[in-house]
Amino acid sequence: MKNKMICLGIESTAHTFGAGIINSKGKPLANVKDSYTSEKEGIHPSKAKEHHIKVADKVIKDALKQANLTLKDVDIISFSQGPGLPPCLVVGMEKAKELSKKLNIPLVGVNHCIAHLSIGELTTGCKNSVLLYVSGANTQIIAYEGGKYRIFGETLDMGIGNFIDSFARYIGIGFPGGPKIQKLAEETNNYIELPYSVKGMDVSVTGILTNLKNKMDSNNYSKAELAYSLQETVFAMLTEVAERAMAHCQKKELLLGGGVACNTRLQEMSNIMCRERNAKCFVPPRDVLVDNALMIAWQGILEKKKASKALSNVDIKPHWRTDHVDVDWR
Ligand code: ATP
Ligand code: FE2
Repeated sequence: MKNKMICLGIESTAHTFGAGIINSKGKPLANVKDSYTSEKEGIHPSKAKEHHIKVADKVIKDALKQANLTLKDVDIISFSQGPGLPPCLVVGMEKAKELSKKLNIPLVGVNHCIAHLSIGELTTGCKNSVLLYVSGANTQIIAYEGGKYRIFGETLDMGIGNFIDSFARYIGIGFPGGPKIQKLAEETNNYIELPYSVKGMDVSVTGILTNLKNKMDSNNYSKAELAYSLQETVFAMLTEVAERAMAHCQKKELLLGGGVACNTRLQEMSNIMCRERNAKCFVPPRDVLVDNALMIAWQGILEKKKASKALSNVDIKPHWRTDHVDVDWR
């Protein structure tokens, strides 16, 4: 066996189709993606699927080119098996199976949420973290404890990114809303009271969305004031549940993941919280915070023992829970 294995990972849970390549020492070799976006509406699974089918071969080709490799150099294929949108997941799985068959190399399906945690630990050097994973569809606080990745808190309704994007669309500033809301919020520090919705270790945001829309309709507040108040409220909720999870597991490292973690105000609040409890906050580089396939490739390396050529047993897992993953790599 070669002393360094090379894994090609494929990501296709939602908007993004990506191909990433990494070696078994954790050296990133390529990270290429092409994302489907729509200005007017939320994600349309069948349109995202069409997009992924169209770009798949080119994204994989570009990743190989970036890594300066050919398909023959690849030892193992991994793909995002779930959770995600079934039509999107199928495209990645079919591509992965096709490559595995053609190259006669093993295939491993990995969990998208856990991959965010693993790439975060690899790129920042933290080792035993609590992950605050905040993306479009997902909002979870995850940590490894007692032989499993457990969910210590999550959203009871919408993902934080989708919530921000919905409000951004409502006030007519387009998609993706996150960066635009952040920019607007920087224009003021006039806080407008909003409902604060933490329930135990979980958060809920649909009531806040309705409240924000009503405030917008009343014409009594500026877009900037609402954007600022949205961030202050919702990020305080996230920071609170993350802190509670850290206290519960007695962990001293907070890791951020997901597109919403690109937000500098959320990063600042997380940093302050960690400092106050003598802990440390880690923020991975942007290209591995958002959905990406490098994390899928790295998770493939970590789970290489599970890889197999028995492709007929492999299927997508759209509702795969983080705590249902069988962990044999740490
Ligand atoms: P999934 O939920 O399946 O992981 P996704 O495609 O929604 O998929 P990401 O690429 O991780 O996930 O994140 C996209 C989200 O991140 C969007 O909702 C976008 O508005 C949000 N986002 C990006 N930058 C910022 C920012 N600066 N502040 C707040 N939110 C942001
Ligand atoms: Fe994600």
